[in-house]
Amino acid sequence: MHNTRNIQEDIIYLGANDRRLALFENHYPIPRGVSYNAYLVLDEKTVLLDTADAAVADQFFDNLAYGLNGRPLDYIIVNHMEPDHCASLGRLLEVYPQTTVICNSKTLTMIHQFFGKNIEDRVMIVKEGDTFSSGRHVFTFVMAPMVHWPEVMVTYDTTDKILFSADAFGTWGALNGNLFNDDVNFDREWLEDARRYYTNIVGKYGPQVQALLGKAAGLEIRMICPLHGPVIRSDFGYFLDKYQKWSTYEPEEKAVMIAYGSIYGGTAAAADILANKLAERGVKNIAVYDTSATHSSYILADAFRCSHLVFASSTYNNGIFSSMEHLLHELKAHNLSNRTVALMQNGSWGPNAGKQMRELLGTMKNINILDGMVTFKSRLADEQLSNLDALADAIVASME
Ligand code: FEO
Repeated sequence: MHNTRNIQEDIIYLGANDRRLALFENHYPIPRGVSYNAYLVLDEKTVLLDTADAAVADQFFDNLAYGLNGRPLDYIIVNHMEPDHCASLGRLLEVYPQTTVICNSKTLTMIHQFFGKNIEDRVMIVKEGDTFSSGRHVFTFVMAPMVHWPEVMVTYDTTDKILFSADAFGTWGALNGNLFNDDVNFDREWLEDARRYYTNIVGKYGPQVQALLGKAAGLEIRMICPLHGPVIRSDFGYFLDKYQKWSTYEPEEKAVMIAYGSIYGGTAAAADILANKLAERGVKNIAVYDTSATHSSYILADAFRCSHLVFASSTYNNGIFSSMEHLLHELKAHNLSNRTVALMQNGSWGPNAGKQMRELLGTMKNINILDGMVTFKSRLADEQLSNLDALADAIVASME
């Protein structure tokens, strides 16, 4: 049973949703599911842009057969080889043995790695700036290495000004019938997932995203068709502004995120008191996370949003509490930079987490650690409340 949508008269959306998958890449919780997008251009020649994840392969092939309506599949353009888009490629090459694969040389290598297939007799290798005409449509290819894998390219339809953007401008979240960004309240319903998707999937590769944005700036764009989430056909400035900030590690707003690693609640209590003191001083949109209770992908995404970060950790095995240590490594791995940080440490007999947090943060780029780390043993004592006041004052002063 097909389930397709036309995004314009001669381009069909063939994608499908997965609302069962618990962990994207076997790591990231996706409670709102995910869509795997693919697009079919019906021109003098038929052109498919990417395939789909194995979990939705049957739906994808039903959609493709319906879209082709008995016509042959002449070409498939492979923009990205990650299996969430290419797991069905091996099957596609068998079901449609006449189809020519359009890809770059790195992609060809990966096709062989993933599928053990030699397709040299049915491949058209393209490189930066090459063009291909399917009839009315003329496509040009723009290499986008590390957005999100080294072989990634995006395809620009010069005829209708459509950018097939691969993972760029994608988001987690299944499509609930509404296919276009202006069919939904994106800022309210989708931005958090879009931010979490971007920061966790390509957050590390800011310079490479900047390079792609630079190339895209020279293109007239009427529509962006990503491989996940809504098709974007309006408010381009909104999306470009988010991508500009995220890819340059510039905070979206002056706000404070507090992450704590707490074993019996003493550190959690201190974090909550600090949050109140910050709010009393006028700080808006404060976020507080328990690093053991919330998956690091959510905390990392909010760290990209906020200008100021507070890390409060119990001491564990004479070091940083495990879930906090994991979070800090994730922040470093994703290249988070340009933040102001305050620290709190707890330890019933030998507080030592703060020193090690400071050392780890010191290996990251442009992290300004405020003086006045708050140290307590087991729980914050009443006479130490003034230390939290001083820390809150220092944080607020650094926000001005
Ligand atoms: Fe959606 Fe990098 O794959």
